[in-house]
Amino acid sequence: MHAVGIVAAAGSGLRLGADRPKALVPLADRPLVCWAVDTLRDGGVADVVVAVPGDELTAFATVLPLDVRLVVGGATRTASVRAALDAVSDPARPAADAVLVHDAARPLTPTDVVARVLAALAGGAPAVVPVLPVVDTTVTVDDDGRLTAALPRETLRRVQTPQGFARAALVDAYERLPAEVELTDDAAVVRAAGVPVTTVPGDERAAKVTVPYDLDLAELQVSG
Ligand code: CTP
Ligand code: MG
Repeated sequence: MHAVGIVAAAGSGLRLGADRPKALVPLADRPLVCWAVDTLRDGGVADVVVAVPGDELTAFATVLPLDVRLVVGGATRTASVRAALDAVSDPARPAADAVLVHDAARPLTPTDVVARVLAALAGGAPAVVPVLPVVDTTVTVDDDGRLTAALPRETLRRVQTPQGFARAALVDAYERLPAEVELTDDAAVVRAAGVPVTTVPGDERAAKVTVPYDLDLAELQVSG
């Protein structure tokens, strides 16, 4: 199976509030995007396309290996992955059977997660996502913040990346998705096209860096 990797790195990182796009923010002196690319490569996905902000191409090219392809992302994560997927489908390149889509914002994802996703794809799953259980009681609220219901926690999962797909299924699902629709992950895109999505165990270390506290935690992890 030949798998290609996509790293979504075109976000601005508003909630992190740094002085540069989140994917360029350093963790132990290396930009988050470099950690994310390493996870895919160390996990056996050598060919990687990174979607980056249009005005930051040079900055990303400076920090990433020469053989990583860069594409200009879009205004939403959905648009950014769509742009990278076009590059993956380049007829001049060997056709990939599978695509793994990863967030630049998950720098400490262990390669075991990549291995589990690849194994599920090799076993015939058209779509696979790493998930973790929900450990807190989880509720819904109304507009005034009043609790309206408690959700059955046993059936809930937190979804991580990298998410893996049969390339044809992912390309077809993105083609069917109206251009203006924004979904928060790629499993949602294939699900909208009726593709069944399998789960494998995720890893707490694959947590997303969203707010400054997440970056502090990641720094603590790498400092030992
Ligand atoms: N992403 C992207 N293109 C966008 C928006 C997001 O490629 N237009 C990527 C981000 O770079 C990130 C991943 O999608 O690696 C997950 O998104 P998120 O954590 O929301 O990152 P940002 O959108 O950058 O952060 P924020 O929502 O706080 O602005
Ligand atoms: Mg965002």
